[in-house]
Amino acid sequence: MKAMMVLVATMVAGLSQGALMRGATAQDANIVAGRAYAVEVCADCHAVLAGEDLSSRLGATAFQEIAETPGMTEYALSVWLQTSHPTMPNIILEQDDMRNVIAYIRSLDRRP
Ligand code: HEC
Repeated sequence: MKAMMVLVATMVAGLSQGALMRGATAQDANIVAGRAYAVEVCADCHAVLAGEDLSSRLGATAFQEIAETPGMTEYALSVWLQTSHPTMPNIILEQDDMRNVIAYIRSLDRRP
């Protein structure tokens, strides 16, 4: 049922077929909520939308590029988001927000 909801939500977001399949397997994560969260919180610095490649803040990698960086797995992203970085403020993400935002980033991956 949950997976079905993710699937429907993903279709509403109009994401690619590949993202749809990945979204459906990302357990319980909500890509649409993750996107909203990214737009609200991360977009101050990062280009967060699909296809965007110019971040508002120099040095903040576009999410599209992060998604397509080899090795940038869910795990790597969660490690990054839970450690502190001099160039990025320590944003404390709720577990759910983190899962969602990671699922959203992963959904941007256009690689076959
Ligand atoms: C105040 C600006 C700012 C905000 C807000 C911000 N970031 Fe960043 N972020 C940066 C900068 C600058 C870097 C590059 C840091 C570095 O490489 O040391 C970065 C790097 C990253 C990276 C690693 C990218 C890479 O190339 O390895 C990830 C993943 C990331 N941010 C995710 C997020 C997420 C998710 C959010 C929202 C919850 C967020 N960031 C909010 C400034 C920001």
